[in-house]
Amino acid sequence: MSYQTEYLRASTQPEDFWKEKAQALEWFKFPSTILTQDEQGMDRWFADGELNTCYLALDHHVKHGRGDQAALIYDSPVTQTKQTYTYQELLDQVSTFAGVLQQQGVTKGDTVVIYMPMIPQATIAMLAVARLGAIHSVVFGGFAAHELAVRIDDAQPKVIVTASCGIEISRIIAYKPLLDEALNQAVHTPNACIVYQREQQVASLVEGRDLAWEEAIAVASPCDCTPVKATDPLYILYTSGTTGKPKGVVRDNGGHAVALNYSMQAIYNMQPGEVFWAASDVGWVVGHSYIVYGPLIYGCTTVMYEGKPIMTPNAGEFWRVCKEYDVKTLFAAPTAFRAIRKEDPQAELLNKDDLAGLRVIFMAGERLDPPTYEWTKAVTGKCIVDHWWQTETGWAICANPIGLEMKIAKPGSSTVPSPGFQVCVLDDQGEPLPPMEQGSIALKRPLPPSCLPTIWGDIDRFKTGYLDVFPGYYTSGDGGYIDEDGYVFIMGRTDDVINVAGHRLSTGEMEEVVAMHDAVAECCVIGINDELKGQLPLGLVLLKNGYEDQAESVQEELIALVRQEIGALACFKIAMVVPRLPKTRSGKILRKLLRQIASGEEFNVPSTIDDPNSIYDIQELMAERGIIVDKMAD
Ligand code: COA
Ligand code: AMP
Repeated sequence: MSYQTEYLRASTQPEDFWKEKAQALEWFKFPSTILTQDEQGMDRWFADGELNTCYLALDHHVKHGRGDQAALIYDSPVTQTKQTYTYQELLDQVSTFAGVLQQQGVTKGDTVVIYMPMIPQATIAMLAVARLGAIHSVVFGGFAAHELAVRIDDAQPKVIVTASCGIEISRIIAYKPLLDEALNQAVHTPNACIVYQREQQVASLVEGRDLAWEEAIAVASPCDCTPVKATDPLYILYTSGTTGKPKGVVRDNGGHAVALNYSMQAIYNMQPGEVFWAASDVGWVVGHSYIVYGPLIYGCTTVMYEGKPIMTPNAGEFWRVCKEYDVKTLFAAPTAFRAIRKEDPQAELLNKDDLAGLRVIFMAGERLDPPTYEWTKAVTGKCIVDHWWQTETGWAICANPIGLEMKIAKPGSSTVPSPGFQVCVLDDQGEPLPPMEQGSIALKRPLPPSCLPTIWGDIDRFKTGYLDVFPGYYTSGDGGYIDEDGYVFIMGRTDDVINVAGHRLSTGEMEEVVAMHDAVAECCVIGINDELKGQLPLGLVLLKNGYEDQAESVQEELIALVRQEIGALACFKIAMVVPRLPKTRSGKILRKLLRQIASGEEFNVPSTIDDPNSIYDIQELMAERGIIVDKMAD
């Protein structure tokens, strides 16, 4: 099947196309309607279909003879553990844990927050929630107590599942005290917290509220799948927007299962039974889609890796895991390969024979810069695919669809739109731009299955943030262009979202935290380029009168504050006190100008600027602090 034929069918006959893809799954009730609109006017896929996502991921395969096949391989260099779960074993554990949740009162439609490191119990908890027809919301372990509290208050979970600790490169992170602190801060109180105790650090439990995982499963009975409507939510995953309040992206059951199952073949070219490894974290969308749901629904073996690409113990880990488990497809963020290249530039830890089984390396999460593309291709000799997607879509909007047809790659491009996505480049008025012209990337509605139908509890935010900007389109928040061959080039965000080591973060949220400090009169956080992590946040701060002699200590306190409130993953390590911030005469901070100064780009001083001297002060300070600044444009 050629890409062009498939793409045209998905665009011109979406209902026939997706009905056919839906037939690949075992529904409890096959949908009689394929694409409809709900009472809010939102497009919905397979509205009257009934299914259960956990059933598709586990029971279906056991029923059809995959019970003894490996479903999940846990490889943890940080704890020296390797463990394989067959489909039957995973099903047993998931059904029993679903029994635990049920005992705690979780039923269809309830929410459960999961705050866990990369251990099999995180996957078990997700699938168990899905089994009950409930809705999980996984919070990435790198987020601090405040962020967790915000998500708890928004999702209102009946139960929270956590682990006693996570293990980072050089330290143990005690998760449970972070949860306790989050619950102190949150208004909402769950019925119970279930804690998986790890031997590296055991947590103390709060009587009457906390239960130990092992003890709870010892007395639980396995429970069966609850059928849900295709449009019932499977999960909420919070992601950064432009404001301080994270957005709860809602994923429904039916469209998600259909799209992921399709993508495993069309995009990743996998066969059931093969090993797929997404070196991400279950706290991110990549982890949801391609550590847990995609590979399992499709009948593959998934690898859950608790470690980093470097230093656990070295830059040869990715190659070791690929060889050890005969991984066919590896998926990771470009930053991981930049880290490996930095540690092992000649790839001395890589023996190409070890990668004999590996067919392709997919990258996403941030722009795949051409040098990283070239290096990875040269040292591995493999096909490298850059693909672009977002938490909101759940699967790739653009990719080299190698399961349909292998396109010639163009470094810097995430290739062509996946079938179902109609990608357009628009100007500020919403008019389509010709090839090669840069603008806002928007997706023509209806969006294909799996894309978000709403923001949890806030349909207006969904409409105003995504749909009203360009009527008839979903606005992606990314800018870029399409070339004459139809290849899409994503050049970066057009809003205040930044991407640090493949982690999506909001500068607006960081500004809210910085502004909490007593000494801060005004502030601005921008993303600056970083060789390893792609981007890093830089805080520019104006002090209140009377604090001038405390600049040094305030800078340090601000760094500590962001770490404490948002988490270490924000990598907020530079706060710079400045004498003034460049602003327009109407008082708007010139963020784009600041970004241009910091990245050494040419820039023009806008005629609306209030005080042109403010630019030179900042330029000088950035130079002093080693933030690369080039000559100013005339
Ligand atoms: N729980 C608790 N803390 C966490 C965490 C977690 N799950 N993940 C990260 N952190 C902490 C780290 O310990 C670190 O803390 P530190 O400032 O005390 O050192 C901080 O958050 C930043 O972490 P990270 O971005 O992982 O940086 P690093 O320097 O430890 O490692 C890389 C650098 C490049 C190896 C790492 O960023 C990486 O593997 N990136 C790939 C990311 C990825 O796969 N993203 C998925 C998108 S598809
Ligand atoms: P997240 O929702 O965390 O997956 O982050 C989505 C954002 O990451 C996108 O809006 C892009 O800004 C960026 N992104 C993801 N994949 C790519 C890619 N292949 N190329 C460029 N940017 C990407």
